[in-house]
Amino acid sequence: MRLRSTVAAGLFSLAFLVAGCGRFPTHPMETYVPPDQNVDFQSLYNTNCRACHGVNGENGPAMDLANPEFEASIDDATLRSIITSGMPGTQMPAWAQSAGGMLTDAQVNALVSGMRKQWQKPDPFQGAAPPPFAQPIGPSAKSQAADVSQGHQLYQAHCESCHTGHARQQLTSPIYLALVSDQALRSIIIAGRPDIGQPDWRHDNGQLSPQDVTNIVAYLSSLRTNATISAPAVPLSSRR
Ligand code: HEC
Ligand code: HEC
Repeated sequence: MRLRSTVAAGLFSLAFLVAGCGRFPTHPMETYVPPDQNVDFQSLYNTNCRACHGVNGENGPAMDLANPEFEASIDDATLRSIITSGMPGTQMPAWAQSAGGMLTDAQVNALVSGMRKQWQKPDPFQGAAPPPFAQPIGPSAKSQAADVSQGHQLYQAHCESCHTGHARQQLTSPIYLALVSDQALRSIIIAGRPDIGQPDWRHDNGQLSPQDVTNIVAYLSSLRTNATISAPAVPLSSRR
């Protein structure tokens, strides 16, 4: 019986403590921020982007956003528009409410300025001018502006040495190409992905010209088949 009353007394004082906490708060209540009012970069990034773009913008399945070369190769307007509307042909969703997503314009702006503040570095290319960010699109990109057979040769000269065998992503696989847009390929060729060991466009003693980059992307793009491939949940190849 003695044991039981001790337990009862314990429970009683526990109940008293719990009730007491409610009555005499020792900490002020944290201010509640409704989700659509939150403009804190870190929490917006962690909630919405980290799963694909990695902790602190690196080592995720999708683009290394923390790479200063990537930050330097994309201007604010383009960055804002990609976050707003997503990237068709990839798993990058549209985020702005105006495009069917969940974030307000103020939140999209907070992401843009937060990415700059965290990840932009002065002159990451040491004076070199990177090829323009945007891959030319539309029918002219495949016929006139871009040269697929040139792209094939450039691919053999600059990419194949690393991207053959089982160790590396088979970039020429239509299954891979179905998951990645031309723009995403272009961004990776230009800025590289230091987090996974992909060199930037200057990798091979000298550098690829803007036209070379366009041609390599056009070559890879030409290998895409129209067959609908049901995409696995993970956007790009698993790397580790
Ligand atoms: C479901 C996965 C997913 C989520 C979540 C996601 N992204 Fe993406 N994102 C992608 C993929 C896939 C790409 C295109 C492929 C690549 O570049 O590797 C991409 C591309 C991008 C690009 C352009 C990169 C390029 O190739 O030029 C930016 C910028 C970007 N995302 C920012 C964001 C931001 C900011 C968020 C959070 C609001 C976010 N993403 C959330 C998957 C995602
Ligand atoms: C010095 C070796 C090397 C060279 C040269 C190289 N790559 Fe890569 N590349 C890598 C490594 C390492 C990775 C990361 C592991 C992987 O996915 O294969 C990678 C990844 C990639 C990815 C991302 C794959 C994914 O899973 O999303 C793309 C796209 C890519 N490379 C394109 C190219 C293109 C196009 C060229 C030629 C212009 C090229 N690479 C040249 C080493 C190289």
